[in-house]
Amino acid sequence: MQTVHSSEELARAVTQLKRRGSIALVPTMGALHAGHMALVEEGQRRADSVAVSIFVNPLQFGVNDDLSRYPRREAEDARILEQAGCELLWLPSVEDIYPSGFATKVSVAGVSERWEGEVRPGHFDGVATVVARLLLAAAPHVALFGEKDFQQYAVIRRMVADLAIPVEIAGVPTIREADGLALSSRNAYLSADERARAVALPKALEAARAAILAGTPASAALRNAKQGLVDAGFLRIDYVALVDAATLEPVEQPQGDARIIAAAVIGSTRLIDNLPL
Ligand code: PAJ
Repeated sequence: MQTVHSSEELARAVTQLKRRGSIALVPTMGALHAGHMALVEEGQRRADSVAVSIFVNPLQFGVNDDLSRYPRREAEDARILEQAGCELLWLPSVEDIYPSGFATKVSVAGVSERWEGEVRPGHFDGVATVVARLLLAAAPHVALFGEKDFQQYAVIRRMVADLAIPVEIAGVPTIREADGLALSSRNAYLSADERARAVALPKALEAARAAILAGTPASAALRNAKQGLVDAGFLRIDYVALVDAATLEPVEQPQGDARIIAAAVIGSTRLIDNLPL
């Protein structure tokens, strides 16, 4: 596996890899876990080589977010990727991505605005800006994103379509712990007690899905899901909603491609999750 930092080094490495065939890019912020590695594996199925970027993007963290305590484990991440047979690791610095004078912001209206966008103002502008920057620099044939961050995935698909960025965007289903909790680097912040109670989040989503599919009105099923989270000790519930999978607009009853999405806080940790209907 080759490791590069600057955009110039990246461009050289990508040119070499493209002589051998297609490239998949997996953008990450590091502290890699089995969820990230599922994206790498899907990249290996879809392309001849896989490049992974690790960049903790300051633009997508709000003032109250956890930028300074975000886990950084580059040496271990590099070992894991090497073992997985990844061809290229791109570790840009903040200056590589946002050189002095950088003034452009990519903002995706509509699909960015509700849910995470409402709770974390500016977050999706930061995500869209960095992902556009990464895709244009690496020019992969395909880029992989996790359905775990379902709204992010929808924002990126919209942006790539709108800007006609020549890349295929592919989603990968959420990887979960044995008890159902979605893997996330933020799970490391949970105490043992919080970790045990956190399973109420996927359980609430599963129960809501089953109820809606059995004909319970979505509003009642979502209300029960929220109550389940309160009962498990979640301190703040930001949303539990049934939405259209492409626009993230709320829907009253399941129609077309719908998704149940949720975000809630346990202890000092904010967890998000979602399920297809
Ligand atoms: P990060 O949180 O590191 O996640 C990188 C990718 O891994 C994202 O596409 C995310 O959805 C996916 N992922 C995380 N947990 C997963 C799980 N349990 N199952 C499947 N996929 C999972 O998301 C970001 O970084 C950033 O916002 C980024 C897109 C890199 C832009 O900075």
